Amino acid sequence: MILFSLPGAQVRSHRAAIDEAIRRVLDGGWYVLGKEVEAFEREFADYLGTAHAIGVNSGTDALHLALKALNIGPGDQVATVSHTAVATIAAIEMAGAEPLLVDIDPIHYTIDPVKLEAAITPRTKAVVVVHLYGQAADMDAILPIARRHGLKVIEDCAQATGALYKGRRLGSLGDAGCFSFYPTKNLGAVGDGGAVVTQYDAVAQRLRSLREYGWRGDRISHVPGLNSRLDELQAAILRAKLPHLDADNERRRAIAARYDAELSSVIGCPVQRPDSRHVFHLYVARVAGRDGLMAGLRQRGVGASIHYPLAAHQQPAYLGRLAGDETLAETERTVLEILTLPIYPELSDDEVSQVIAAVKAETGHG
Ligand SMILES: Cc1ncc(COP(=O)(O)O)c(C=O)c1O
Repeated sequence: MILFSLPGAQVRSHRAAIDEAIRRVLDGGWYVLGKEVEAFEREFADYLGTAHAIGVNSGTDALHLALKALNIGPGDQVATVSHTAVATIAAIEMAGAEPLLVDIDPIHYTIDPVKLEAAITPRTKAVVVVHLYGQAADMDAILPIARRHGLKVIEDCAQATGALYKGRRLGSLGDAGCFSFYPTKNLGAVGDGGAVVTQYDAVAQRLRSLREYGWRGDRISHVPGLNSRLDELQAAILRAKLPHLDADNERRRAIAARYDAELSSVIGCPVQRPDSRHVFHLYVARVAGRDGLMAGLRQRGVGASIHYPLAAHQQPAYLGRLAGDETLAETERTVLEILTLPIYPELSDDEVSQVIAAVKAETGHG
């Protein structure tokens, strides 16, 4: 079966550098928040063009702590989309705030700026902008709305590490950018990990304190914090992989270009925003009769998948209790038609051909 993602293949292609990174940490004898984390934070911030990067233990915690560091909490509403990984919503609730759900632009699957502005209430204090599937949201429209209404802007870049918007790395445009290093992500660890990046010294300082019991390097809790530390092994492995991220993303883009070229008359291929560099964490097509096509592809050995089968507000944990746009009509239409095709840097040209042939055969274009 050709899976939609294969983190083991990533490890194999960087195995020598990863082995060396692990050896360095084991021999060094310091395992949590040490030199490797510090070096990774510097290298990641430099890569993105931000003043600071703060390693934490997941993308969910990156969002949760970024909200807290920006003083968003109980009584505040945070606008975001329902068409996202449920972690986006979970993190807003972990910070004590209330998600305010806004519908998506059905072409790019990111927040609809017009509907965002219409949804804002006096309690709305921030927006979590999700750059879904590796594609930038419409930041030129969103940033002025946020400025007009005094909203903090948190970029959820979990799926968009290395993506560009008008020449700038995603994560560097808002008040804070949040990343996940879950193994399948474009920059993946071999366990959980995450980071928050920011241009603001005070926000960075609060994040460093919040991730470790509210300490300020003195073993005294000045604010209630938690344990959300990045460990040295993950940081060392991320340092080994970061220099290859742009090349890996280019390979993802080349695979996407082949799918686009050969399948655009058969299925609804993703639409890239002009002036941006989509990094195809996922290649999500749109197709009527999606469930039948997915079943057929699986029978042909192509592990097509759905991200995500239910929008957040449709999931049992949230049903009937999230505020937002009354209908979320585009979101609900979209979840019925999306289909993820395999994409990862190590997918061979031959496997890409097999996926294309299977889609054509299943849709009667074989
Ligand atoms: C859009 C989005 N936000 C947040 C997260 C949370 O990241 P993590 O799984 O590292 O907590 C993920 C990944 O699952 C994601 O895809």
